[in-house]
Amino acid sequence: MTSQLATGDVKALCAARAAAATDQIRDVAATGSRRCLVELGAREGRVATALADLGFEQTYLVDRDHPTSDEARATRGERVTADLRHFDVAALTDASCVVAKHVCGVAMDYSVRMVARARPEVFAFAPCCYFSCEYDAYPGRELLAELGVCRDARDFDMLKKLTQWGPNQFSPSTEAAGRWAMDLIDAGRVDFLRRSGLDAAALPYADARLALDGALECTLLVGWRPPDADADAAAASPWDTYQDENGTPYYHNRETGETAWTLPGES
Ligand SMILES: C[S@@+](CC[C@H](N)C(=O)[O-])C[C@H]1O[C@@H](n2cnc3c(N)ncnc32)[C@H](O)[C@@H]1O
Repeated sequence: MTSQLATGDVKALCAARAAAATDQIRDVAATGSRRCLVELGAREGRVATALADLGFEQTYLVDRDHPTSDEARATRGERVTADLRHFDVAALTDASCVVAKHVCGVAMDYSVRMVARARPEVFAFAPCCYFSCEYDAYPGRELLAELGVCRDARDFDMLKKLTQWGPNQFSPSTEAAGRWAMDLIDAGRVDFLRRSGLDAAALPYADARLALDGALECTLLVGWRPPDADADAAAASPWDTYQDENGTPYYHNRETGETAWTLPGES
């Protein structure tokens, strides 16, 4: 496919794929509050720029490099120069939304682990360069071992090699193998996020044919912090729990002033 395309066509298709990823990240980001946006692996901060009209109160752009281009300077947001390997977003801010577009292999896995710890309201990540993942940092090892497809670093190396099989190098059947390998790596990431208590999913954001590097990278990892059922119930109830001097619980209704030894409404 690529060999038949002029350079201009390739650039246009790459731009279309980037735009498709950004649009879908924007849709997911719009589902949360607009308190604090963090873009990981931001480089120029193009995703943050595309999300500017959502009106986040605060924006941070995190990258290990500090870009100095005019485009980067024009992006609104506070720059943080840090390696994602050691970066803890929760130590920087109480992020409501974390996004990352085309942040490569192992850096995507640092990002996945980071949101599992920080539990923002919402996150949306577009992974790329699966071949540069590292087994030790990859968070989905448990699922892959359970499925019996990957038990150690050597198996994982094979899986990473498969992710580079795409339509440009090989035949349609190898394209399917490349897609399978990438889907499996993303399934492990989603499984890890779910085991960490987040709602998470992997969704296609574009036609795989827009990925011209033969890697068919067109999947978005999205997730939300599920509502805390206990906290919601407590907030909805007017009854607060106290203990008397013997440690026996009793209940006080902050709206009526009433006190009871058993929680009214519970038998
Ligand atoms: C392919 S570029 C994507 C840039 C931008 N997100 C976009 O889509 O236009 C990947 C970016 O991730 C950054 N990056 C990769 N590994 C990183 C790491 N370990 N820590 C911090 N930044 C990293 C690179 O410096 C680069 O700016």
